[in-house]
Amino acid sequence: MPRRLFGSFVEHLGRCVYTGLYEPGHPTADADGFRRDVLDLVRELGVTTVRYPGGNFVSSYRWEDGVGPVDQRPARLDLAWHSLETNEFGLDEFMRWVGKADVDPIMAVNLGTRGTAEAVDLLEYANHRGGSHLADQRRDNGATDPYGIRLWCLGNEMDGPWQVGQRSATEYGRLASQTAKAMRRFDPDLELVACGSSHLGMPTFGAWERDVLTEAYDDVDLISLHAYYQPVDDDLASFLASAEDMDRYIDAVTAIADSVGAIRRSTKKIMIAFDEWNVWYQSAAPSNPPSGEDWPVAPPLLEDHYSVADAVVVGGLLISLLRHSDRVTAACQAQLVNVIAPIMTEPGGAAWRQTIFHPFARTARHARGAVLDVLRDGSTTSTDRFGEIAAVDAVSTWDDETGEMTVFLVNRVVTTPAEVTVDVTGARLAGIIECVTVGGADLHAKNTADGPDHAEPRPNGAARSADGGVQLTLPPASWTMLRLR
Ligand code: AHR
Repeated sequence: MPRRLFGSFVEHLGRCVYTGLYEPGHPTADADGFRRDVLDLVRELGVTTVRYPGGNFVSSYRWEDGVGPVDQRPARLDLAWHSLETNEFGLDEFMRWVGKADVDPIMAVNLGTRGTAEAVDLLEYANHRGGSHLADQRRDNGATDPYGIRLWCLGNEMDGPWQVGQRSATEYGRLASQTAKAMRRFDPDLELVACGSSHLGMPTFGAWERDVLTEAYDDVDLISLHAYYQPVDDDLASFLASAEDMDRYIDAVTAIADSVGAIRRSTKKIMIAFDEWNVWYQSAAPSNPPSGEDWPVAPPLLEDHYSVADAVVVGGLLISLLRHSDRVTAACQAQLVNVIAPIMTEPGGAAWRQTIFHPFARTARHARGAVLDVLRDGSTTSTDRFGEIAAVDAVSTWDDETGEMTVFLVNRVVTTPAEVTVDVTGARLAGIIECVTVGGADLHAKNTADGPDHAEPRPNGAARSADGGVQLTLPPASWTMLRLR
């Protein structure tokens, strides 16, 4: 299973960077101005890779503004989020932070207001060893070794009317193809992501993927998917089943990509980068950027406070990603700190875990080795949005090195517990290492900086070894992780 499934996303948006992961003067800040309390939580979260610097932000970003002596960097208007970008934090700071967080970078290039030339300039600055103008500039800026960034996103949500530099599918597909070809002249082994639709509900969904890949199929390796979920009309049952939508979305894009490949008689398969996903209350006020004469630095934007129910949904979305890990080879929860994030910070104060932190951290830590197909045989539940679906969703991983099997389950029924038998006949597993659950009660409870942690996984006392497997009770609306050896 690709470890890149447990990626995250850092955008210059709101307080994700400034007063999020970077806050010189904070009591825990290190010599680079990185908050150590946030770095500790990022490591605990188990994030493997981080996409940067956007998001919508990237589509009007000049990467050169963010390198070189900090006191000479220009302040610019960020057109995506109507904020002032000081450029105090840029590529070199990000790469230093990446080293300290022990994650791999995913870099996005601006194909909104810019094009192929600036993308290859950035590549040269980042990845060339030295002896050329831009690589030497990086060295002068303190980074002697090239960064070796492997995975690159060719723009962001280029189908969206909100995107600076929105393009038609064919226009964008040609630009992505041309940029990919140029980047591969520097390094043929880069992994390149073309933008898919901004979400499944886009009016051009499907045709967009088809037309972009018709132009760029031979030049790119992955296509992006983005999806954000929230309850609609207080319909908790459908919200808990959000993974159904994710399943269908992945299956649809896979089918479209394969059909373009089949028409081209290509043996190559395009993989999926689900490089933005999460729960996001898009209608909530903090999602609205400032306007008019107001161009604040790092205003609080998209600072959703998550409930226990949101944590159960995040656990379910991770099950969907794992189930599709034969095609989804990269994924990024959006975002990492403060902005629709598992980690929150107070400027000058504490860093703390949101409810959604826990299913992510447990899955990232324990989903190892091969993903196993789980045969689900049991009751169904009816939802307004998805019709009749399995009441319990599940996926399992098998780690050959440790001999551990981990099963992740979600009971999507709001009112009744589920009695489940995990049948592992033939797997010769001796017993339960751990069984923990999130949810089942206090579904609307949210964490705060100094309050109790409502989604701390608690032991599921009902789990017991039975003939050929394990029997357990999943509380209503809950996420559970069962580890066996
Ligand atoms: O993650 C927040 C925003 O959502 C990103 O900037 C954009 O790509 C998406 O629409």
